[in-house]
Amino acid sequence: MSSPQQVGVIGAGQMGTGIAQVFAQSGFSVFLVDAKPVQLAQAEAGIRASARRLHEKAKIDAAAYERVQTQIRYETQLSSLQACDWIIEAIVEQEAAKGQLFRDLDSIVQPEAIFATNTSSIPITRLASYTQRRDRFIGMHFMNPVPIMKLVEVIAGLETSDSTLQRTLATVALLQKEAACSKDYPGFIVNRILMPMINEAFCALQEGLGTAQDIDKGMKLGTNQPMGPLELADFIGLDTCLSIMNVLFHGMGDPRYRPSPLLRQYVDAGRLGRKTKRGVYEY
Ligand code: CAA
Ligand code: NAD
Repeated sequence: MSSPQQVGVIGAGQMGTGIAQVFAQSGFSVFLVDAKPVQLAQAEAGIRASARRLHEKAKIDAAAYERVQTQIRYETQLSSLQACDWIIEAIVEQEAAKGQLFRDLDSIVQPEAIFATNTSSIPITRLASYTQRRDRFIGMHFMNPVPIMKLVEVIAGLETSDSTLQRTLATVALLQKEAACSKDYPGFIVNRILMPMINEAFCALQEGLGTAQDIDKGMKLGTNQPMGPLELADFIGLDTCLSIMNVLFHGMGDPRYRPSPLLRQYVDAGRLGRKTKRGVYEY
C-alpha cells in the first residue's frame, strides 16, 4: 500500500483548522502550521471537539474519527513541510503576507508539490507570481464551517496546468466535497455575489434602515438564509469581509464595491466578529 499523501495547511485560524480536519478525515497525513503556538493549541482543541460532534452524530465513522486524533501534527516551523505533496495556504487575507509566505515555501517544499490557496478573493494568477511553480498553483476556496459546508470553489490561474486542475478536482472528490469552478476574477463566484450583500447590510445599518436584529431577521426569515448578513459577517470575520471588499473595489475598479464606512470603522476598533467576541453583536 502506498503511504498517505502529506498535506501542509498553513494558518490555524477558523479555516485552516477545518481544512486540516477534513483532509485528516479523508486519510491524508496533515501538518498544520501557525506562527502562534497559542493558535495551534486552540486549533487542536477545536478539531478534536468538531470530530467528536460529527462522530457522535454518525456523520463520520470511527476510522475517520481516529485519523483526526492521530494524523494531524501541529507545527510552528515551515521547515516541517519539506516533503509535502500538497500545500493549502489559509493565513490572513492580505496579499503581502500571502506573497511572502509563498516565496518562502517555494524554496522549502519539494518542487513537485502543488500549492493551493484558500484566498477568498485575491486573484490566483497574482498569488502564483510569487512562486516559480505557476503551473502547480491553484485556488481551493473552502467554505466556513469547513467540516459542514459541501462546496469548494476551484480557481485555475492563467498558468495553472490542466493536470494541476484535474488533480485538485480529484482531491475535492476525495474529501467528499463538491467543486464549483470559477474564472480567476476578484472574489471569484461566491464572494463576488455574497460580499456586496453583506456590505449593503452594513450600509443599511449605518443609514438606520433597521436595527441589526431587524436587518438579520428580514433576510433570514424573508429569504430563507441560515444566518442574516450581519450575523454571517461576524461569523466570517469583519477583517476578512473588509479585505474582500477592498480586493473587489480595487480589482474591479468599480465604485459599486466601495467598502461600507461602518464596516471599516468596526475593523479599526478591533471589532472583528466572533473571533474577538465582539463585532456587530457581542458574544
Ligand atoms: N464541526 C462539526 N459540526 C458542526 C460544526 C463544526 N465546526 N459547525 C456546526 N456543526 C453542526 C452542528 O453540530 C449541527 O449538527 P446537527 O444538525 O447534526 O445537530 C449542525 O452543524 C448545525 O449547527 P447548529 O445547530 O450549531 O447551528 P445552525 O443550525 O445554526 O447551523 C451553520 C450552523 C451550519 C453554521 C449555519 O448557521 C449556516 O449554514 N450558516 C451559514 C454558513 C455560510 O453561509 N457559510 C459560508 C460563508 S462564506 C465563506 O465561507 C466564503 C468566504 O470566503 C468568506
Ligand atoms: P483567521 O484570522 O481565523 O486565521 C488566520 C491564521 O493565520 C491565524 O491563526 C494567524 O496566526 C495565522 N497566520 C497569519 N500569518 C501567518 C504566517 N505568515 N504563517 C503562519 N501562520 C500565519 O482567518 P480565517 O478566517 O481562517 O481566514 C484564512 C483565509 O481563509 C483567508 O484568506 C480568508 O479570506 C479565507 N477564507 C475565510 C473564510 C471565513 O469565513 N472566515 C471563508 C473562506 C475563506
